[in-house]
Amino acid sequence: MDSSITPHLACPRSRPRRIADDYAPPYPAWSARIDPAIGQVVMASYGVQGRESGDVAAALAHVRALRATLDADVRHVDLARYVDEAGYDTLVLQPYWTDPEAFRRWEARADVAALLAAETGLGHFREILTPTVERLETLYSTEDEMEGLGRALERRSPPVQEHAYWGSARDRFPIAQTDALEPAGQLGFAADGAGRVTVRGHDNIAIIRSGQDWGPTGGEERRLYLAEIEPVLRAGMDFLRDRGGECGCYLNRYMRIVDMDGAPQEKSFGWSYWRSLGDMENWSEAHPSHLAIFGTFMRIVQQLNFDLKLRLWHEVYVVTPDQQLYDYRNCHPDTGFLKQMPR
Ligand code: HEM
Repeated sequence: MDSSITPHLACPRSRPRRIADDYAPPYPAWSARIDPAIGQVVMASYGVQGRESGDVAAALAHVRALRATLDADVRHVDLARYVDEAGYDTLVLQPYWTDPEAFRRWEARADVAALLAAETGLGHFREILTPTVERLETLYSTEDEMEGLGRALERRSPPVQEHAYWGSARDRFPIAQTDALEPAGQLGFAADGAGRVTVRGHDNIAIIRSGQDWGPTGGEERRLYLAEIEPVLRAGMDFLRDRGGECGCYLNRYMRIVDMDGAPQEKSFGWSYWRSLGDMENWSEAHPSHLAIFGTFMRIVQQLNFDLKLRLWHEVYVVTPDQQLYDYRNCHPDTGFLKQMPR
């Protein structure tokens, strides 16, 4: 069977996989393939938050203006929305590049820089990840379209071997062939006294975007997704948001994909940042909140005789300090990484 690791990124392992070489997964899944010409990707998130009436319209106008500046170098872009734990309505524009230089050129443009510095009366944040290709992995449950980073990378693997067992996410990382991806260092915070805080990430922070697309479902499957899976997913996402610190989760957002008019699509994703890949693995493998999501899903898969239209996908990154950049401008103190700031 094919490995999830794109062939040119495979190397002799000093760290074995958790499976035997003849392991065969019970159902198929696919990963994005990485073109050898791509060495590093950019997953950028530009957030706008507000709590007053009229703020959503102003935030939408802002992200649309930013969206309008994106040029042909951008490989994919999503817009997503959620109301955070402090009641702030938040819109996040998430463009992807497969060339960090193209991203830097775009951010340095005068019109873009002006938008990113604009005084709007709203809160603004930027969370930029620039992982090299050995520091990312993806998984898609269906053979049709990919989402997020997969759309940016464009190419898809045949069915892959490394999935459907705990520890498979790690086994899909090229770098985990030889590296334990242990965390090192601490978060750092620098406030300029004028409402702007920059956060320095430490080594091997892990980030997941874990998506659900129930658009293609119908009938009993749709009913079961909305009535049984989604409430358990929401409870797990609320747990990570409110008490994730108990498990090494710095922050979690349960987001709904919206179109450029702000209209919700039948797509959502959990988006979280962790002290380490190990902490993320422990939560998914052992915590009741993910086991409830996983268990409910598995029961329904069997109930529907493995005939599912629901599309699940995720992308995971483990980044070095210089592959992350976070800053918050006029944001409330529990926004993103700010809630980790010593007070
Ligand atoms: C793995 C179900 C949401 C984190 C898995 C797997 C399933 C699953 C079936 C095993 C996949 C495979 O290897 O073939 C679901 C369902 C979800 C959901 C049905 C929502 C409806 C989430 C969310 C997160 C998450 C929102 C994180 C915020 C993980 C992680 C793994 C995983 C990290 C990999 C564990 C490992 O490889 O050791 N999940 N999940 N899941 N899930 Fe979820």
